[in-house]
Amino acid sequence: MSAIRFENVCKSFDEKVVLRDFSMEVQPGETKVMLGGGGSGKTTILKMVLGLVKPDSGRIFVEDQEITSLTEAELMPIRKKIGMVFQEGALFDSLTVGENIAYRMREDGTCSEEEQEETVRQLLGFVELRDAMDKFPAELSGGMMRRVGIARALVGNPPILLYDAPTAGLDPITARTICELVIKLRDLEGVASIFVTHDLKAAKTLASEFAEAQPNGEVVFKSEEENLCLVNTHFVMLKDGTVLFEGTDETLRNVNNEYIQDFLT
Ligand SMILES: Nc1ncnc2c1ncn2[C@@H]1O[C@H](COP(=O)(O)OP(=O)(O)OP(=O)(O)O)[C@@H](O)[C@H]1O
Ligand SMILES: [Mg+2]
Repeated sequence: MSAIRFENVCKSFDEKVVLRDFSMEVQPGETKVMLGGGGSGKTTILKMVLGLVKPDSGRIFVEDQEITSLTEAELMPIRKKIGMVFQEGALFDSLTVGENIAYRMREDGTCSEEEQEETVRQLLGFVELRDAMDKFPAELSGGMMRRVGIARALVGNPPILLYDAPTAGLDPITARTICELVIKLRDLEGVASIFVTHDLKAAKTLASEFAEAQPNGEVVFKSEEENLCLVNTHFVMLKDGTVLFEGTDETLRNVNNEYIQDFLT
């Protein structure tokens, strides 16, 4: 089974062709780092996985179920499998952190107040923001808001996560904490994800480190070099509406293409 699959997808807005014959597959437990210039269609691709944008032609599958022409009602159970971390954070300003995270559970109405609060606590623990429960978004730093966005995306333990430039504008240390969350979800929970970014340092971290849970419950990060293992992260680079490159970090760096080398330096 693949987690996400695009087959020959084309999409134009008005006269502008954004995707032409775009194909890609993400496996369970895999992180796909998506690179590409501004306006190359990265956010559009994430919205297509959620069924928020429909392709003009081609087919899209989530966990092998075709979603291309599903109705809003039919998309509901699909969207439950997917957590999205939006490019702009997209928290509700008038709700506290706890209320923002609980939002989807409230809408669903399937779990009690106590269960909701317990889930919010667990998720805030996971993103290491235990004390932020009653704060409002305006009281948070940029990095904290991103982590709340991740916590909110994790409600319901979705097997698929979509991250839209989650480290943009963050200092390197905060960016690193976000990468560690993504790596933990990949290696300890087997989450499939698309990680859109312009942050090559973050991309390198995702491609070269893995998380291991110790018997005492602590999680340690190891580099691929010190432990011979395969880090389940691959790269896709978009250009002119299609895939210019797909492969490992190492092959990306060695590919003989001027655009890619300019992008990487
Ligand atoms: N709803 C829409 N209506 C019209 N044009 C759109 C719409 N959504 C996206 N576009 C256009 O599609 C192109 C791709 O947009 P998209 O947001 O996917 O780019 P991106 O790769 O995410 O860029 P960035 O790196 O700046 O976030 C852009 O030219 C954008 O103007
Ligand atoms: Mg975008």
